[in-house]
Formats: sequence, C-alpha cells, structure tokens
Amino acid sequence: MRFKPIILPRKITGGMLFIFLGLSFINLSGWSQQTKISPLQKQLGERLFRDVRFSAPQGDLPASCSNCHLFDEDPQGLRPFADFFNRSWISYRKESPQRFELRNSPALFDVAQQPRLHYDGEFASLEDLVKGTFAGRPMGWLPTEHESALMQLQKVVAGDARYRDEFKQAYGLQLEKLSRDEMVNAVARAVADFMRTLNSKMNSPYDVFVQVNGLQAKPASGETAQDFGRKLLAKITELETTKTLKLPTGFNATALAGLKLFFTPATGNCVTCHAPPYFTDFSYHNLGISQVEYDQVHGAGKFAALPIPNATEARRPAAQFREYPTPQKPHEVDLGYWNFINLQTSPLRRANETDDQFLQRMIGTIKTPGLRHLAYTYPYMHNGAYISLEDTVKEFRHLSEMAREGKVRAADDELKNIRLRESDIAPLVAFLGMLNEDLKPGTQAAKRE
Ligand code: HEC
Ligand code: HEC
Repeated sequence: MRFKPIILPRKITGGMLFIFLGLSFINLSGWSQQTKISPLQKQLGERLFRDVRFSAPQGDLPASCSNCHLFDEDPQGLRPFADFFNRSWISYRKESPQRFELRNSPALFDVAQQPRLHYDGEFASLEDLVKGTFAGRPMGWLPTEHESALMQLQKVVAGDARYRDEFKQAYGLQLEKLSRDEMVNAVARAVADFMRTLNSKMNSPYDVFVQVNGLQAKPASGETAQDFGRKLLAKITELETTKTLKLPTGFNATALAGLKLFFTPATGNCVTCHAPPYFTDFSYHNLGISQVEYDQVHGAGKFAALPIPNATEARRPAAQFREYPTPQKPHEVDLGYWNFINLQTSPLRRANETDDQFLQRMIGTIKTPGLRHLAYTYPYMHNGAYISLEDTVKEFRHLSEMAREGKVRAADDELKNIRLRESDIAPLVAFLGMLNEDLKPGTQAAKRE
C-alpha cells in the first residue's frame, strides 16, 4: 500500500483540526473537493497541465497531460479532457517499445468525485496520480527513470520565473525555499486543483427533464440505486397518467422509453451501477470486456482456461495482468482492480468469503465510468474497443446473455440481471444522448485566457 500524506488545508481552527484528524481515515479527497480553488490556482494548474517540458527528452513524442486529455485543441471537435484513440499514444523508447497506453483515456469532468483513480483503482488521490503520471510511461519515462523525471520536473519549475511568481501568488509558496519533494508535492497539488475545477454543469436535457418535472435528482442517503430507480419511474408514470409529464426540447418519446429501460432493475438494470447524478457507483465490476478482447486474440474459451494465481500465490499488482493481450504473450491480460483490491479492508468483501473467493471475484473488474458527455468520449470501455454507443449497448446485451449461460469468467452478478431485447438498443442509445451537455459555452475550461 502506498502511504498517503495528509495535507492540511491552510486555514484551520483547533476544533476543525480535531474533527479532521478524527475523520482522517474516511476520505480526505472528499473534503478537499469542497475547498474553493481560486482563479490563480486554476490558471497555474492548467499551465502545468499543458507544459510539455516535463516529458522524457529521450522519447519521440513530447507529452503533457493535455496531449491525452484534450479540450478544444483538436480540429475533430471538443472533448471533456479525453483523447480520440482507443488507447492513448505514448513516446517510443527502445527499452519499452510499445506505442500504446494500456487503456483508453478517460474524461476528466467530475474526476474530483472519484474516491480512487484509474480504471483499476491504482491511485488513492489526484495528487498521487499526478506524481505517478509525471514520472511515468505516459510522459515517456521508464520505470527505472523515476529520479530523473522528478529532477527534470524540479529543474523546469524552479527555473521558470513565471512559475515561481505564480506559486507565490496562488499558494503563498516560495519555490526556491522548497526541497525537491516539497516542490513535487506543490506541483501535484496545483495540477490536482486544476482538475477539481473541471465539473459538469448538470444542465443536460436529462437534468432539465428532472427539474421541470420536479423529480428527485439522486438517491437519498441510504437509498439504494434500484429503489431510487423504481421511485423515479413510479413518479413518471403518475405524471403520465395525469398527462402532466413535460418533455424538454430534444427529449423525445424514444429517449423516454430508453430512460425507463435504464432505470428498471428487471430490464436494463443500468441504474444499479450507473446511478445519478454522476451515473456511476464509483465501484468495480467485471462485464467481461477483458475476456472478449483476450478471446479475440487467442481464441474462444481461452480466457476461461488462463491460469490466474490464487490469493496466497498472487503478487499484486502484477505486470502480467496489467497488459493488453497480444498473440506473442498469451499469459498477458488486463485484470483491472484485481491488481489493487485490498482483500482485508475492502467494503466489497462479502461475509463468509475466503480471501481466494474474494480475489477470484475481482478478476477483470473495472471502475464504473460515469455516463455524462458520451457524445464526446468515443471510443468506449477501458480498452476503447467499441466505436459507437450502439456497439457498446449491444455488447451489454450479448455479455449479459453469455453471463447467464455461465460463459463469462467471474461475471458480476448484476450483469446477469440485464435483460434486453434487440429493440431496446435504440431507445437506450437515445437516452444516453440526453446526458450530453454543450461543452463549450461557459465551461470553466473554455474561459481560460
Ligand atoms: C499518454 C497519454 C496520457 C498522458 C500524457 C496523461 N494521461 Fe491521464 N490518463 C491516460 C490514460 C490512458 C488513463 C487511464 C489509465 C488507467 O486507467 O489505467 C488516464 C487516466 C487519468 C486520470 C484518471 C481518471 C479516472 O477517472 O480515474 C486522471 C485524473 C488523469 N489521467 C490525469 C492526468 C494528468 C494530470 C496528466 C499529466 C500529469 C495525465 N493524465 C497525463 C492517458 C494519459
Ligand atoms: C454491473 C454493473 C453495470 C451495469 C448493470 C451496467 N454497467 Fe455500464 N459499465 C459498467 C462498467 C464497470 C463499465 C466499464 C467496463 C470496462 O471498461 O471494462 C461500464 C461501461 C459502460 C459504458 C461505456 C462508457 C465509457 O465511457 O466508455 C456505457 C455507455 C455503459 N456502461 C452503459 C450502460 C447501460 C446502457 C447499461 C444498462 C443496459 C449499463 N451500462 C449497465 C458497469 C455496469
């Protein structure tokens, strides 16, 4: 386990400190979300986010965070800080010749809400992620070059008069007085703070629909996503009976049919894992996406037969199980959260489950992505293997059938509860379209200088 430093907010009273320390085992990132980020802090974080000078000079692609997390840089159109590839491109290094990242670049809107980061839950905070990424393969560095990466970061930041000035104004920090580690922490905080300003506006046609009809926007505390879904649908039926249901512009009957499938546990069952307002449960599930890709490369049924070590033998995270499948290396595959789950402390553990049963159940589990802005985030899934939403929703239908037949290794129980007909695909896709916002006008990111 990584050690997570506790960074105290600047203004803190004695009483707060007491409460803060008392609760510190819960979730510190949740607290920091609520701290206000000033325009100067945001501007500084964004400049670091876009600076290519932190990438490895030995690589052939200068990289910044914004290379793979784009907003309006590409003529193909806007992105909620994702890219256009199925797997992001990385610098070529002869020692590590792969051209692609392990996974698809996720959108960064609402990322501050995520209790853990990366599809496999690798990082426990935005700050940890920034530090790991600046010194990692996405920026062209090899695992053996951690020190060089941090030295370069220090050199660039400390040698830049504007950064020195901005850190002082935005955070009251004098860079020249900081040790290297303190400087790296300061940079991590600034970039993390920038990302905390990237929030959905919650004004999609779906949000308008909820508002004009006086519907509940998210489950009440303690309410399950399924109960929330049932209640929402009951209220909609009531409004339909009295002919008072309002459909905002663009929200047509097909989208409404899709909404009903989405929120019905017995049909779409989508709400169980994709609960409003962010359309995720922030948890991890195996839908069989890694299995499908593995079997495409190695042949049907091969993933089911792949030896995966048990809880006693497994060394996690395992390089072998954080790879995409290639014909040359049949032992390599992406097992997702299997690599990072803490068997002792995880709330996902069921009563009476042995370590091994629990770990086996975590095979191929991936963090549930939110479903806002999907028009701008294709291709889909952690491996970017699905070009359109139609393909994606069709795959849910296919995999849920396979799971019921026992053909998805370690399938999530809720996958088996998805029961869709061919004719349900189009309405679900139409409903997902209701979760897009107009990214450009008024977004925080669009207002940058
Ligand atoms: C080479 C492309 C690339 C670069 C450069 C890059 N990223 Fe990423 N980013 C990705 C990919 C791919 C993922 C998904 C990783 C995973 O889940 O394994 C990701 C994941 C993330 C996530 C997690 C989102 C979530 O929902 O869990 C955050 C936050 C993030 N990146 C921020 C950054 C920051 C900040 C930088 C610069 C320090 C950066 N990225 C540089 C490609 C890149
Ligand atoms: C068992 C939990 C679960 C259920 C039920 C579920 N999903 Fe998902 N969904 C996930 C997970 C986990 C992923 C990511 C899987 C991966 O990348 O391997 C995902 C991915 C997606 C994506 C791709 C998003 C992206 O950014 O790549 C879409 C679209 C989606 N789900 C829609 C739906 C719809 C529509 C339904 C109902 C028919 C549904 N989901 C039901 C857990 C679930």
